[in-house]
Amino acid sequence: MRLDGAHVLVAGATGVLGTAVCTALHGRGARLAVAGRNPHRLAGVTGALTPDGGGPPPSRAFDAYDLSGCGALPSWAAAELGGLDAVLALPGVAGFGAAAETEDAVAEHLFTVNALCPLAVLRAALPLLGRGGAIGAVSGVLVERAQPSMADYGAAKAALSHWLTAVRTEERRRGVQVLDARLPHLDTGFAGRAVAGTPPALPAGVPAEAAADAVVDALADGAGVLGPGPGGGFATRPR
Ligand SMILES: NC(=O)c1ccc[n+]([C@@H]2O[C@H](COP(=O)([O-])OP(=O)(O)OC[C@H]3O[C@@H](n4cnc5c(N)ncnc54)[C@H](OP(=O)(O)O)[C@@H]3O)[C@@H](O)[C@H]2O)c1
Repeated sequence: MRLDGAHVLVAGATGVLGTAVCTALHGRGARLAVAGRNPHRLAGVTGALTPDGGGPPPSRAFDAYDLSGCGALPSWAAAELGGLDAVLALPGVAGFGAAAETEDAVAEHLFTVNALCPLAVLRAALPLLGRGGAIGAVSGVLVERAQPSMADYGAAKAALSHWLTAVRTEERRRGVQVLDARLPHLDTGFAGRAVAGTPPALPAGVPAEAAADAVVDALADGAGVLGPGPGGGFATRPR
């Protein structure tokens, strides 16, 4: 995908990774519509993306528990931008603890934010995208190697990843890219904002800016799966 001038919706723009992705896309000339839950962080993102003498990008608040609100984001972005080329759904929340001790309400929260919300956003985006368009989301390396103390978080991300894999095949004939970013642990403080439990000892996180650049490169290259590569870098697989 040619990013210069592309119309891109980033849902979850208020996160550390989401903000870094917006900055990287903006730097490559994409025209953004941004959505997030926290209104103060959303204002911070739009402020940072406002060019000197120009107006801020369109922005909209949403909550993952309002799935129809999630599904309304792509048509809103298309109307604001005058079309839509790509949609990234980046919301996520961690949760830790043994499966036997995880409350159903926590599992519901993890599946809503990590799976149902991105699915609602991306599902609604598909009819608005033409050949050369793209959707993408961030699952995690754990979808390839399940981790103890993260069964419900991992299962939600695996559901997201599975959906992306199936939709990639569905959309191949239409020429719509479906990107699954299976990122490793990042330095965003994500684990410390878990909805439940205490994180296990984690390795040093990859800088969010490096991960954001890798996501944006993968989008530009038409990749299907992005994951850790040799030497601490990133590698992609074709769509
Ligand atoms: N950090 C890691 O180690 C790591 C590794 C692999 C994958 N990931 C994934 O990368 C993505 C970004 O994570 P991050 O590291 O940048 O963490 P983050 O800074 O905590 O970002 C989380 C994002 O999810 C949004 N969110 C959380 N609950 C929500 C809700 N109920 N409704 C709507 N939005 C909600 C947050 O919105 P507000 O800020 O507006 O509340 C924020 O935009 C997530 O999907 C995460 O699962 C992270």
